[in-house]
Amino acid sequence: MKFFLSNLSLLCSAFCISILNYAQNTTPQFGKDAIPAIIKAMTLEEKVKMVVGKGFSVPGLSLSATDETPDKIAGISGHTQPLARLGIPSFNLADGPSGVHRFMMSAKDSADNLFSTAWPVGTLLASSWDTALVKKVGVAFGEEIKAYGIDFILGPGVNIHRNPLGGRNFEYYSEDPLVSGKTAAAIINGIQSQGVGATIKHYAANNQETNRNTLNTIVSERALREIYLRNFEIAVKNSQPWAIMSSYNYINDTYTSESRDLITTILKDEWGYKGFVMTDWFGGKDPVAQMKAGNNLLMPGTPTQVKAIIDAVKSGQLSESVLDENIEGILKVMLQTPTFKAYAYANRPDLKKHEQVSREAAAESMVLLKNDGNSLPIKNSMSIAVFGNHAYDLIAGGTGSGDVNKAYAVSLADGLKNAGYKTDKDEQQAYMMYLKDYAAKHPKKNPLMEIMNPTPYAPEYSVEKKTVEEKAAHSDIAIFYIGRNAGEGSDRKVADDYQLTSQENEMLLNITDAFHAKHKPVIVVLNIGGVIDVTSFRDKVDAILLAWQPGQEGGNAIADVLSGKVDPSGKLATTFPASYKDVSSAKNFPGKEFPEKATTGMFGMKQIPGEVTYEEGIYVGYRYFNTFGVKPVYEFGYGLSYTTFGYSQMKLNSSTFTGQLTATVTITNTGKVAGKEVVQLYVSAPTNKLDKPSEELKGFAKTDLLQPGKSQTITFTLVPSDLASFDTNSSSWVADAGNYTVKIGASSLNIKSTASFNLAKDIVVEKDHKALAPQENINELKGKKAF
Ligand code: BGC
Repeated sequence: MKFFLSNLSLLCSAFCISILNYAQNTTPQFGKDAIPAIIKAMTLEEKVKMVVGKGFSVPGLSLSATDETPDKIAGISGHTQPLARLGIPSFNLADGPSGVHRFMMSAKDSADNLFSTAWPVGTLLASSWDTALVKKVGVAFGEEIKAYGIDFILGPGVNIHRNPLGGRNFEYYSEDPLVSGKTAAAIINGIQSQGVGATIKHYAANNQETNRNTLNTIVSERALREIYLRNFEIAVKNSQPWAIMSSYNYINDTYTSESRDLITTILKDEWGYKGFVMTDWFGGKDPVAQMKAGNNLLMPGTPTQVKAIIDAVKSGQLSESVLDENIEGILKVMLQTPTFKAYAYANRPDLKKHEQVSREAAAESMVLLKNDGNSLPIKNSMSIAVFGNHAYDLIAGGTGSGDVNKAYAVSLADGLKNAGYKTDKDEQQAYMMYLKDYAAKHPKKNPLMEIMNPTPYAPEYSVEKKTVEEKAAHSDIAIFYIGRNAGEGSDRKVADDYQLTSQENEMLLNITDAFHAKHKPVIVVLNIGGVIDVTSFRDKVDAILLAWQPGQEGGNAIADVLSGKVDPSGKLATTFPASYKDVSSAKNFPGKEFPEKATTGMFGMKQIPGEVTYEEGIYVGYRYFNTFGVKPVYEFGYGLSYTTFGYSQMKLNSSTFTGQLTATVTITNTGKVAGKEVVQLYVSAPTNKLDKPSEELKGFAKTDLLQPGKSQTITFTLVPSDLASFDTNSSSWVADAGNYTVKIGASSLNIKSTASFNLAKDIVVEKDHKALAPQENINELKGKKAF
């Protein structure tokens, strides 16, 4: 009997193996067989599964495309559809730029500690001007993404800070494409070094939230090429992100996700992009046009899209070869994912280690805007009166999909205590009670509703004048802490947001009156995601520290800088204008809307068509302020330190440009404490042909930590593309012959040293395609000269 059984099992296994072999011979398997063979084996319905995501399932909303299998990781933004027959698993994607965003689907998720590190937001990271530091954040971020079993993070966001009111500016880096592109490349290289994918977004010209799904952005080819695409181009060429997310808006009358010019001609053909493109969630209108544009994947995926694509192939409107090409783009990348490699994730990232990285990145990037009479750093023996709601309730990051489900956020009040300062317990209690009471009266909505429409913060708590005076008598120094938040779905407003609220103004006045009467300094800390007005109060206070939204370790990181444990070395990657009306896009933000043409969109939501014209052209941020002589309150590139730096021995290796040129400068710490300096190189190009900004950033570097008296020589290399502007007539990048000035300095207005060189003949650096041309004339701003 025993003999019979073992023979039977032998026979059986031989039979199974031959069946398996037979199946393997006839059915190609993903990862073993060539991708074209896999695609060839797919039915039309299976092909469509590959290009339409699996649906969307988060608390309060569940929507499936065609696949009903449970999500591999609950509470994240997206999954692709599996195709088991061909060995293709479902891949998964989670938001967002500042940490892994996942909804806690059950109490068990919290009990299992599925929290993620909230990193400092994009605007703060960019203020470091330190790509090595940003890469370090990327590496830690990547470890965490992988540890949670995620294949793609839906970030970084790289759109330009066109206007200070942009609701998602906190997710983005800068008003300048070089800083944006280099910072993005650094974080992408860090993330992807861990074997997980980054998804750079939102491609392109997605610089506002008002009417974001209907907005027609009318913009010149030149402004696109030099500003709104350049950031993506630099990031793509320097880091090859695994994925790119197209944006919600139209560019010059075509939805970005339906634009072959944008996705195939520019991104894939001209820039040589190797990854795949996905839509933003429910973005665009016509799935067939999206396929034809080369937008490989539609996310999160709906049954309507599935049907539309199948019907279009059947009716001959869409060639199946277009699907094949899009699928190939996706599958090639998927071979690298942890899911494909069956990575055994444990849901146990090293959150302790990441706390330190988050804190270091935050402290190293904050910008000291003002420091009269060396009010900062604050001596450890001093007692501090801390005012402002958010000093007790940190805003670690912005709202929407860019928010992070974090285990905690350290407030400034706690950070100061952790650093050993004496703060006022009664004051803390009063604020905490006020905030608790407000929270009880304004309970949070369902998490999905909170994303789109966050419960507003409590109005500024008014401490009585008499109490403020008492605090002034008993404390050595005051901090007034100003908080702002914004995010996906809406832009900010000038009144009560860009500007201070009346309660904040009143508090600020009471604090400055009371403390200055006792000759005690008042420090303002800004915990904000985008630029606010500082003109109204900067002369009334002694110091201003811009902490942006510093991630979960914010309070500790701010205390590190206020105490001098870390020398502030961040600089502004976005201008603080003297007044909102000075912003070059102010008269075209957020543009026009046409309520009479309103339609009903996804989930029955009213959609109002919108339109915005970028009349400022290439004159965005400092390119505008500097060229037109409009003085900002704090310019692009500006930031103070507790020490001072000398610039010397600036040299060019040649006075004529013959393909490459190097510029060197020596930076010396001339002050009393160790510090790092951000050194910036700007170029002024000849304007005999094309209109050009007075100068543009072409290089930046951060020194090592220099001890007092120590020096470091920095070398920059200029190549032809650094001298070129986009000539719309010939659709090419051209470096015009003539004299160029290299300006090296501590900010865009604080130039320390200049030198000139000559370019004998025009160089056509790159010939591109005619693409994305506007359908109408744009009354575009031109430089001061008439051309
Ligand atoms: C946002 C994207 C995000 C996606 C998935 C969209 O509403 O614009 O940035 O990645 O949702 O959550």
